[in-house]
Amino acid sequence: MSGPSSSDGPDEVTAPTAERVEQLVREAIAAFAQATTAADLNTARLAHTGDRSPLALANRGIGQLPPADRKDAGRLIGQARGKVNQALAARREEVEAAELETMLQAETVDVTVPVELSPVGAVHPITGLIDRISDVFVAMGWEVAEGPEAEAEWLNFDALNIAPDHPARGETDTLFVDPPEAGVVMRTHTSPVQGRTLLDRELPVYVVCPGKVYRADEFDATHVPVFHQIEGLCVDKGITLGHLKGTLDHFARATFGDVRTRIRPNYFPFTEPSAELDLECFVCHGDSVGNPDRPCRTCSSEGWIEWGGCGVVNPRVLIAAGIDPEVYSGFAFGMGIERTMMFRNNAADMRDMVEGDIRFSRSLVGGAR
Ligand code: DAH
Repeated sequence: MSGPSSSDGPDEVTAPTAERVEQLVREAIAAFAQATTAADLNTARLAHTGDRSPLALANRGIGQLPPADRKDAGRLIGQARGKVNQALAARREEVEAAELETMLQAETVDVTVPVELSPVGAVHPITGLIDRISDVFVAMGWEVAEGPEAEAEWLNFDALNIAPDHPARGETDTLFVDPPEAGVVMRTHTSPVQGRTLLDRELPVYVVCPGKVYRADEFDATHVPVFHQIEGLCVDKGITLGHLKGTLDHFARATFGDVRTRIRPNYFPFTEPSAELDLECFVCHGDSVGNPDRPCRTCSSEGWIEWGGCGVVNPRVLIAAGIDPEVYSGFAFGMGIERTMMFRNNAADMRDMVEGDIRFSRSLVGGAR
């Protein structure tokens, strides 16, 4: 047969020979075998099984063969097309499997290859401890207040009843911001937030104020010139020393676990009466007191260690903020965060707390948080 357009009459059309058909089958199978991608295989498919492929044309020409030849030609061509289609399907499976394999290999991730991870930081233990303590108070309904580190001298001292001739105001303790006449100091404690809070907020007030404080101090194991405190202030109607003691007991237990506390008279210009809050010694639990055979270095055999200052807010502080001390009263306290960490986490050297060594942060972060 000569092609699809040979419509010149049955006489001119001859049935394809079995050899010719076999050759077409071989060519098709060879073309499929050569195709290694789905795209190549598709091209081969169109060439060998498409509408214009020799076998399709031969199939279409059957009708034009002399009737006697049609049956054999139909069987011959039909079988040939069947073989070609089978070969195509088989090759398609192979090509798809090979392509999938190539893709899987290309996308393989070797999870065992060592990678260089950037070092992960850690919450600084001081920040962690401040957050933790703040949470203790927030859980009781208190708020967290903040104030500036460069503070008005008046708020840092005068509003807290610290007279101009008080020794703490001397340049040996206080860092003044230039020029000194401007009356700005690096706050020496968090207590000026008391005045700010009383001036800014509606009464009653229940706030804790954590933050950095500055003193012209030595840099050694127990002193750093920049450290942290947390201040507490409550001003409401009918507040007594009893409320102070109960609050500080809770604060101490939430921070150190089951620990005994005591308050001992002291003097601060902004509280009256004033007291020092002591914790029972963590090391000797008082056993060293009056027991020269078992001295305790932690508490100097006193049985107690000093944690922070506290007291009933001095009426003068309330008056400085325009509050009537006949109606309102309050209590305040202030603790050093570094000191708290020393007791709580057994951190012996304050310098570790400022040097920013990640190993120190990591070693404490679980405990400090
Ligand atoms: N501001 C004091 C200091 O830095 C600590 C302090 C003592 C704060 C008594 C208080 C307080 O609120 O009532 O040493």
